[in-house]
Amino acid sequence: MAKNEERVAEAKRVLLGNYKPPAFVLSKGQGCRVEDVEGHSYLDLAAGIAVLSLGHAHEALARAVAEQATKLVHTSNLFYNERSIELASAIIDATSYDKVYFCNSGTEANEAMLKLARRWQFEHGHKERTEFVATHNSFHGRTMGALSVTGQPKYHVGMEPLIDGVSFVDYGDLDAMRAAVGAKTAAVIVEPIQAEGGIIVGSDAYLLGLREICDKAGALLIFDEVQTGYGRTGKFLCREWSGVLPDAFSLAKGIAGGFPLGAMVVNKRVADGLPPGSHASTFGGNPVACAAGLAVFEVFKKENVLHNVLDVGAHLESRVRAIAADANLPSVIEARGKGLLQGLKLAKHIDPLATIAMIREAGVLLSIAGGDVLRVSPSLLVTKAEIDEGLDVIAKVLRNAPAAVAA
Ligand SMILES: Cc1ncc(COP(=O)(O)O)c(C=O)c1O
Repeated sequence: MAKNEERVAEAKRVLLGNYKPPAFVLSKGQGCRVEDVEGHSYLDLAAGIAVLSLGHAHEALARAVAEQATKLVHTSNLFYNERSIELASAIIDATSYDKVYFCNSGTEANEAMLKLARRWQFEHGHKERTEFVATHNSFHGRTMGALSVTGQPKYHVGMEPLIDGVSFVDYGDLDAMRAAVGAKTAAVIVEPIQAEGGIIVGSDAYLLGLREICDKAGALLIFDEVQTGYGRTGKFLCREWSGVLPDAFSLAKGIAGGFPLGAMVVNKRVADGLPPGSHASTFGGNPVACAAGLAVFEVFKKENVLHNVLDVGAHLESRVRAIAADANLPSVIEARGKGLLQGLKLAKHIDPLATIAMIREAGVLLSIAGGDVLRVSPSLLVTKAEIDEGLDVIAKVLRNAPAAVAA
């Protein structure tokens, strides 16, 4: 049996069947290239679904992790540790927000924001403000709270009852939001770009309008920047494009270049929202994960990462737009995104999974968002030459994109 086949068979025997990855096993990578166990090389434009901000095996990140691992791996939150203080301080400098809470993932960061919103309202005399307004088509994670504000019913199947008091309105519809936010609303939770929902970019007017609605109604505004934050769109936070200031936002994915780390970042107003004992995480603020986070910051500065995202992101955007506009490529109906988070929406008659498999067989890794959008979310250090190489492959495959089989 070939090595890959062997590993996949073992994976199927021992790993829970909640994922359905393609039948190949990755073993190592460098920059935007990754290899499977049989030595086949791929250009990785998925980057672990917008996680590998510095690409694979970045030397600065590897060194920081190795050094910290020889010093101190874990302290618990019974004690402070130096790396988490330094990373929180760097995040505060980069965002001009006031306090940071560390956890281990995006869903946990969102969970913390939901709890902070309820508890902050409670602490400030509004015990009745327990409800949340979220948007249809949103994705905030898989734990019960984050899942409850995720506006995609397919993720709720068989998981109910979810938490009470959540209502959903259409993304982009300020009138519907105004009508939904009321005297019982603790917070409105929104992604500046609905990423998993298919890369739907929120307009500046929409995001600013949310702030106005929340202020008038006495609700908090909380942003999920798990996928859009940390430079992905060309600014450190996606919220900076509109200038809107949510009370809290969540980070994860790119924050530690692939190490498990999440964060909730809050403004002064709500910084007292979680008093001692009200929330915690055993591994949150782990020194090795925070050392990885500090290495990401170091590289951001040294290699001018945000400039690269703006420059290469503009190039990527022009390439995906050209594909969408190409009359010879009817398999694509729209291109959308910001910076290095771009999507190609496939026509109804195209099979997205078969298309992405063909692109993979041609040597390029992508992921799917919203069921029918090819997502390009490479390392933030990707070059224009790598984008051109990948987009040439994608365009070629799209010329013969496989049709969906009628149900
Ligand atoms: C916007 C957004 N929020 C939350 C999450 C959940 O993050 P995690 O898988 O780290 O829990 C994701 C993951 O894709 C996401 O894209």
